[in-house]
Amino acid sequence: MAIEESVLVEAARAARRFAVAPFSNFAVGAALETADGIVVTGCNVENATYGLTVCAERIALFKALSEGHRRFARVAVVAATDSPTPPCGACRQLLWEFCGDVEVVLANEAGVTARHRLAALFPHPFDARLLNG
Ligand code: THU
Repeated sequence: MAIEESVLVEAARAARRFAVAPFSNFAVGAALETADGIVVTGCNVENATYGLTVCAERIALFKALSEGHRRFARVAVVAATDSPTPPCGACRQLLWEFCGDVEVVLANEAGVTARHRLAALFPHPFDARLLNG
């Protein structure tokens, strides 16, 4: 059962408040909607190595996968930027592999700033279909 977009965005906004971002001070929240209308959230988690930082989108995705979810409909990403904050390249790869061509809703504190299909953000992907020649 699909949920209202505003519910998904609000979940991402709430998750953003838990961001662990002492190095960049750039807090991000993400909310993934499963095909059943369940919402799984994540925030970015930074650490002293910098390089082991994990984005909000991947935290939400790994939480969802580890709880048994396998089919996804949408992902919302919230950051406090005027212009939309889209998923980074690493997150696009993993969202593509595990979620397929989901809708990506980008928002800030004021509201939705952009909507994309993941295929538009991540054209010509490498994925498992290419592994068998
Ligand atoms: N970040 C995310 O969590 N998601 C995005 O879509 C963009 C970037 C995080 C990673 C890092 O903690 C901080 O934002 C600055 O790059």
